Amino acid sequence: MQATKIWQPTEVIAAADQIKAGELVAFPSETVYGLGADAFNAAAVAKVYAAKGRPSDNPLIVHVADVADVPVFAQVNDWAKSLMTAFWPGPLTMILPVVPGVLSPTVTGGLNTVAVRLPDHGLTRTLIRTAGVPLVGPSANRSGRPSPTTTAHVMHDLNGRIAGILEGGETRIGLESTVIDLSTEQPIILRPGQITPEDIAAILHVPVLSDTQTIASVQVPRAPGMKYRHYAPDKAVYIVPVTNWDEALAWAVKQPLTIGIMADKSVLANVRASNNLRVWSLGINGAMAAAKLFSGLREFDAQPDVSLILVAQLPDTSAHAAYNNRLHKAAGGHFVMELWTE
Ligand code: TXA
Ligand code: MG
Repeated sequence: MQATKIWQPTEVIAAADQIKAGELVAFPSETVYGLGADAFNAAAVAKVYAAKGRPSDNPLIVHVADVADVPVFAQVNDWAKSLMTAFWPGPLTMILPVVPGVLSPTVTGGLNTVAVRLPDHGLTRTLIRTAGVPLVGPSANRSGRPSPTTTAHVMHDLNGRIAGILEGGETRIGLESTVIDLSTEQPIILRPGQITPEDIAAILHVPVLSDTQTIASVQVPRAPGMKYRHYAPDKAVYIVPVTNWDEALAWAVKQPLTIGIMADKSVLANVRASNNLRVWSLGINGAMAAAKLFSGLREFDAQPDVSLILVAQLPDTSAHAAYNNRLHKAAGGHFVMELWTE
């Protein structure tokens, strides 16, 4: 166990010193908090897997502060150059062929590709520049837990296991970056995020495939992390489709259980306060719902009397794909209708 510090933005040098010393520092980004370590230091990278309890075949994203830092460890092709210009800094992770012999094999999980991202958060980039090395940065949660969107979430999961956390407030987007594989014949989205296949196709002028079907159906998904149970709180989570809220609330109010309800304001307007239902607002649009999904799951997980959680699905559009994907994983694919047909 070590004493986990919280550094204010003004203390970024102290945080960078810990990175240089081979220690783990959680950092904010525009998506979720990441667990940072020197990507060139194999021992530091090994500590990341240990602190998270992460399977060693699940590779890490390398975070840079400047586009010029990428060719040191990854082979930048024309697609990557165009997407860097269009979307960096921003929530887009690119899988590129790795430059052999530079990174520790633990970063790439032994693959011949590497994931790269340039975050849209000034403090993150200052940390990377001050440390003077690219940072590996998986989400700063214990493996299998919802990704952290505040320092309190990071503390809950990793207190005593890491040197400290750089305070950056609540993260803006709240869901992890889009991951796109550019090492293949055609670009393939391996994990949906705020940047959609349509956004990418509009820049590259080629069809952009989406690996969501493959992830569900094959044994070895292309993004190794997508095969693990993910984003899941300890409590049972059920998805509520857009058109099923009336039924769901009528069912929930009759149960001898305390039930957490995560939905937008218009749904919550129909929930009476004096009953067995607790509420968590997902706001008034998809962006707010994305920002509040993981924190709501964690909030209800922390309330001992809440025994199950009902969460709003969003309409099946490309813009909502990342939210619906994370919700589906958190719920293990379970829908609320199963509760009354059991
Ligand atoms: O928004 C984000 O991407 C956050 C912030 C902190 O940057 N990071 C993040 O990292 O979500 P992580 O490790 O939780 O998720 C990275 C995903 C995993 O599913 C992993 O399997 C996949 O990217 N990945 C990493 N390297 C890969 C590679 N070479 N080929 C295919 N997938 C890869
Ligand atoms: Mg993660």
